[in-house]
Amino acid sequence: MSKKYLIGLDIGTSGAKCIITDDRGTVIASSTQEYPLYTPKPGWAEQNPQDWWDAVVRGLKVILPKSGVNPADIAGMSFSGQMHGLVALDEHYEVIRPSILWCDQRTQAQCDWLTEKAGGVKGLLSYTNNRMLTGYTGGKILWLRDEEPDNFARMKVFVCPKDYIRYKMTGKIGIDVSDASGTGFFDTKNRCWSEALIGIAGLDMSIFPKAEESTALAGQVTEAAAAETGLPEGLNCYFGGGDAVIQTTGAGLVKPGVLGVVIGTAGNVSMAVDHYEDNPNGDLQMFCGNEPGLWLAFGVTLTAGGAYRWYRDALCEAEQAKAKAEGRNIYDVMGEIAEQSVPGAHGVVFTPYLTGERCPYPDPNARGSFYGLTLGTEKCDFTRSVMEGVTYSLKQLIDIMGNFAASEKVYTSGGGSASALWRQMQADIFNLPVYTMSAASEGGAYGAIMVAGVGAGIWKDLNEAVSIIRPETETLPIAENQPAYNHAYAIYNQIYHALKPVYDLSASLGY
Ligand code: XUL
Repeated sequence: MSKKYLIGLDIGTSGAKCIITDDRGTVIASSTQEYPLYTPKPGWAEQNPQDWWDAVVRGLKVILPKSGVNPADIAGMSFSGQMHGLVALDEHYEVIRPSILWCDQRTQAQCDWLTEKAGGVKGLLSYTNNRMLTGYTGGKILWLRDEEPDNFARMKVFVCPKDYIRYKMTGKIGIDVSDASGTGFFDTKNRCWSEALIGIAGLDMSIFPKAEESTALAGQVTEAAAAETGLPEGLNCYFGGGDAVIQTTGAGLVKPGVLGVVIGTAGNVSMAVDHYEDNPNGDLQMFCGNEPGLWLAFGVTLTAGGAYRWYRDALCEAEQAKAKAEGRNIYDVMGEIAEQSVPGAHGVVFTPYLTGERCPYPDPNARGSFYGLTLGTEKCDFTRSVMEGVTYSLKQLIDIMGNFAASEKVYTSGGGSASALWRQMQADIFNLPVYTMSAASEGGAYGAIMVAGVGAGIWKDLNEAVSIIRPETETLPIAENQPAYNHAYAIYNQIYHALKPVYDLSASLGY
């Protein structure tokens, strides 16, 4: 087969990643191009869809020549992207306003309104099997209706971030079932829009794009997109999926029993399920997977690697200077400092609620904190406690997942899993063996490769596709570390509840 190369794109929160692989999944060239995130008000987060497109064009112009691949030999392309972002398009499919992102927290009133109209959380779960969380697209549509009626009136259709890029490539509007699940208006059991819930919200069905399976053919690269990107005109584009779902596919999670843990900007814990399951209290997110007959149960902690990056930027000036002077990676320098502390960080416990929280506390008012400071607290304790706090938040998600299915091991990925210290912390705190898998560091873009390969017929299904993924590192729990972590975890579990009145007070004061 001469057409044996695949392209995967991931429209992330900090940048767009473009990769090209062969039909064994070997990454031949990769490029990440960054773009800004705007916070016009506290709790708001927006990006310009044009910035995503410009980054994709730049990235493709790097990887295509660098790979040396003849563009005519590319079999297909697919897409991953930050989920839930509202891209509102007018009748000419022009972007109406900056995209409101997954980590934006402005929609609590709208989410509460819809939940009440749907008969409370239980009523809502009966339509979608998911709560309407503030991050979801649904609340953003209702916010536009309530707060920007002129923009709402102009909105002919909406899409999510990666769908906008696929539209720019193919000229065709659509969404895949995994991203559609994250709108909060999708009947995830039957893999179609919940017309009943959309009716309850009083919204017009016509603004909801056609939803298709991830591996379905969405269209072909247009002449204009080919001229701009260097891709061949007519290249087949497959729908793809929301990053929280498709990155688990790229990490090899297409069967129950294995937990996926991602420490990216956000963190999540997930498990693939091969049949539909009810989500009793709506604690987890239960989305359609990237293949018919596949669902994904997962929980998200909103700030994970993002908390460590914040800590780097806000409080690690000296470490940055040292890393620069020694020509080293800043995270290696920070990791060395964290290792000077001990498991449990001498009683310092960090809560990573820097943009509110989602699971297990769906609460935009929650805030980050360091607890347990004494005159003996040192920089190394702070540094370590940030990593540990993020890991405790992930452990809470694993505990919830335990009610739902037993797990034997963890596949970890995302920037945080590059650190051996952080992997050991995961193994110790989760008390499970932790593995990194080949190419999992490529994240959603690699899942997009799997989906494109299945779409293009290189692999029969996702199960066959992921057989090319191999474990790269294995980290086993160290029993003697566990008591200290267990104590700190017990404290961590109390902090949210203890501070809840303070979170609400500070929110009422505008913080
Ligand atoms: C998933 C979610 C995040 C974003 C981040 O529900 O909100 O994973 O998709 O990229």
